[in-house]
Amino acid sequence: ELYVGNAKQAAHFYKTAFGFQSLAYSGPETGVKDRASYAIRQNKLTLLLTTPIRANNPIADHIFKHGDGVKALALTVEDATSAWEETTKRGGKSYMKPKTLSDKHGEVVMSGIHTYGDVVHLFIERENYRGPFMPGFRKWESNYNPPETGLQYVDHCVGNVALGQMNPWVKFYEDVMGFRNILSFDDKDISTEYSALMSKVMSNGNGFVKFPINEPAEGKKKSQVDEYLEFYDGEGVQHVAMATNNIIETVTELQKRGVEFLNIPSAYYDTLLDRVGHIDEELNALKRLGILVDRDDEGYLLQIFTKPIEDRPTLFFEIIQRKGAKSFGKGNFKALFEAIEREQEARGNL
Ligand code: FE2
Repeated sequence: ELYVGNAKQAAHFYKTAFGFQSLAYSGPETGVKDRASYAIRQNKLTLLLTTPIRANNPIADHIFKHGDGVKALALTVEDATSAWEETTKRGGKSYMKPKTLSDKHGEVVMSGIHTYGDVVHLFIERENYRGPFMPGFRKWESNYNPPETGLQYVDHCVGNVALGQMNPWVKFYEDVMGFRNILSFDDKDISTEYSALMSKVMSNGNGFVKFPINEPAEGKKKSQVDEYLEFYDGEGVQHVAMATNNIIETVTELQKRGVEFLNIPSAYYDTLLDRVGHIDEELNALKRLGILVDRDDEGYLLQIFTKPIEDRPTLFFEIIQRKGAKSFGKGNFKALFEAIEREQEARGNL
């Protein structure tokens, strides 16, 4: 769930630019008096866009402080009551006690705890629900339905936390959520001439949920994480990676629809095949679109990063296609961060 300044317009943007489909709506017309929410979906990706409709409202305060940003990362669970009881017993701070929502389509049980910054995790139990989205929402039938762009599911969601806070949040995901640290990057892996960061990837038991946690590291100039923390006015979600089965088709379509991506210098492609070996995709297509490639022991991955999707240099999206690789593109960090630094420089924030 994103809190945004204008959910009606944001929904139009995500439909037009990314190919999300209208799913459900709640607001004054459905009996919710303080906010409007639009649920949009593409395959297994579901975004909920929420805006306050009055000033005196915690959602309005959130937007005043952070701008548009991710409020909740919701996780499907078998039992939202025991998920809340267990995580709060282990030290998680409650955001929402278990509550049951019901309508003619069945019932949903939800609960939630706080994580870094103002972000929360919601636990959603929906085995007994057959409606379009959630109780309290009505189906959203729209006459405007741009086609999908091939986006499939959330691959990972990355959080930016303050200096010294990565390891405490790693411990939170281990102790409270029962996650494991599956990968770590230090400032030697992730540094350019100017800026550096450290990152640890936390994952649940079946490996489907992946939450990398970044913190800034000492560099000559302000790191991209520092810039985020300054403009988001605190910790929060830096990017959401959305998977596709055909990145060339998806990115071609997204660019046609106006999604802006970071520019990668053409020199990156001069030595790419020496570095990653044989790939199925045509090099020229990757070069034209600015898609990055990296290989690990298990295969390779293709990825590309949007520019921030609002005026604050905060939240952005990654598009990723995995061909065996389970890693996060370590070989691309340098090229990627240099591209981000060129954007920071243009904003006067490097
Ligand atoms: Fe990523």
